[in-house]
Amino acid sequence: MSKIKIAITGIGNCASSLLQGFYYYGDKKAEDAIGLMHWSIGGYKPSDIEVVAAFDIDGRKVGKDVAEAIFAEPNCTAVFCPNIPQTGVTVQMGKILDGFSEHMRDYDPKHTFILADDPEPTQEKVVQILRESGAEILLNYLPVGSEQATHFYAECALEAGIALINNIPVFIASNPTWAKRFEEKNIPLIGDDIKAQMGATITHRALTDLFRKRGVKLERTYQLNTGGNTDFLNMLNRHRLVSKKESKTEAIQAVTNQRLDPENIHVGPSDYVAWQKDNKLCFIRMEGKLFGDVPMNLELRLSVEDSPNSAGVAVDAIRFVKLALERGQGGVLYAPSAYLCKHPPRQYTDDEAYRMTEAFIDNKLVESPEPRRHRQEEDKSPAASRR
Ligand SMILES: NC(=O)c1ccc[n+]([C@@H]2O[C@H](COP(=O)([O-])OP(=O)(O)OC[C@H]3O[C@@H](n4cnc5c(N)ncnc54)[C@H](O)[C@@H]3O)[C@@H](O)[C@H]2O)c1
Repeated sequence: MSKIKIAITGIGNCASSLLQGFYYYGDKKAEDAIGLMHWSIGGYKPSDIEVVAAFDIDGRKVGKDVAEAIFAEPNCTAVFCPNIPQTGVTVQMGKILDGFSEHMRDYDPKHTFILADDPEPTQEKVVQILRESGAEILLNYLPVGSEQATHFYAECALEAGIALINNIPVFIASNPTWAKRFEEKNIPLIGDDIKAQMGATITHRALTDLFRKRGVKLERTYQLNTGGNTDFLNMLNRHRLVSKKESKTEAIQAVTNQRLDPENIHVGPSDYVAWQKDNKLCFIRMEGKLFGDVPMNLELRLSVEDSPNSAGVAVDAIRFVKLALERGQGGVLYAPSAYLCKHPPRQYTDDEAYRMTEAFIDNKLVESPEPRRHRQEEDKSPAASRR
């Protein structure tokens, strides 16, 4: 069985954890592999994935073998597999566009991005690199707010004829125009904004769904998040946060019994705390009413290493796309997108999305439930009309 060939744009902490995982699980057996949702998908194990092309804009990464670049500053995630052999794949200079936020210049180099002074490639050049590498799938791991840069790389994927996994909250799979373009070319697409394995979103959604199932009226909630990696540093620029907040908030709204008025829901990245590095802290509060209109509340603190948490999901996304490629299936992969992403084009509860995704793996048709209310413009509630 040949390997699944991927290209990555943005060799940050998430890419580091993902690549480490390909090697970490290489000498494991199904029974002793910890931390995977699926050991094998379509016969592919995590170690059956290889990086064949990589792009970044940081001078400490560009020009290096990807096996070294993943450990270069400012990456700061846990190293759980330090001995990665040289891959022979050199990180290429990417197109900067809006991938770099000006406020990033104000911080110590060990915490921030340092732009490489290599010439930026044209779209034709990136397409050529992708084609020559044999990449089948491009993973987008750019900083939040990289709208133009994400569009640039999505165009490159379309032109090179390779699939796209959009891990970030710039809307591609959930944008009908982009989704249609992938469908017309019969190219698989998963997105948008990857949902971590056991992160703030999945936990908050599971609890919100529990409130709904147990007949408890959720009245108010917040989810505050702090971290010390470049993802959190980048998000100090509030202008870049619009789509992230929408993605994270809608992920919760989609599973509420009744859509919450915006003033009663606050979900988003909250602050940058350098010493936390890649450790993310999440504080959730939920206030509700149970039997007899009697109030209750819940407080939760979650502590997770941010990047392995996303890699545990990306490793499945890659294999789902490979299945689609083998089956000749293009366009948005709706079930995996709903299961693996915060802002998919069709939202389901996580139970439903899980069931549909397992059926996707087995290539079985299941009756899909009605997608849950998702976008604000679809919302006809009185609260929505007041907005
Ligand atoms: N960790 C999670 O659980 C999680 C969950 C959902 C989404 N995400 C998103 O995934 C993305 C990546 O996260 P991360 O922690 O790896 O971020 P990071 O800051 O560690 O990495 C981003 C990388 O992109 C590079 N870059 C910036 N502009 C570029 C350009 N124009 N072309 C090529 N490379 C460019 C940077 O140099 C850096 O290496 C972020 O948008 C994050 O919000 C992460």
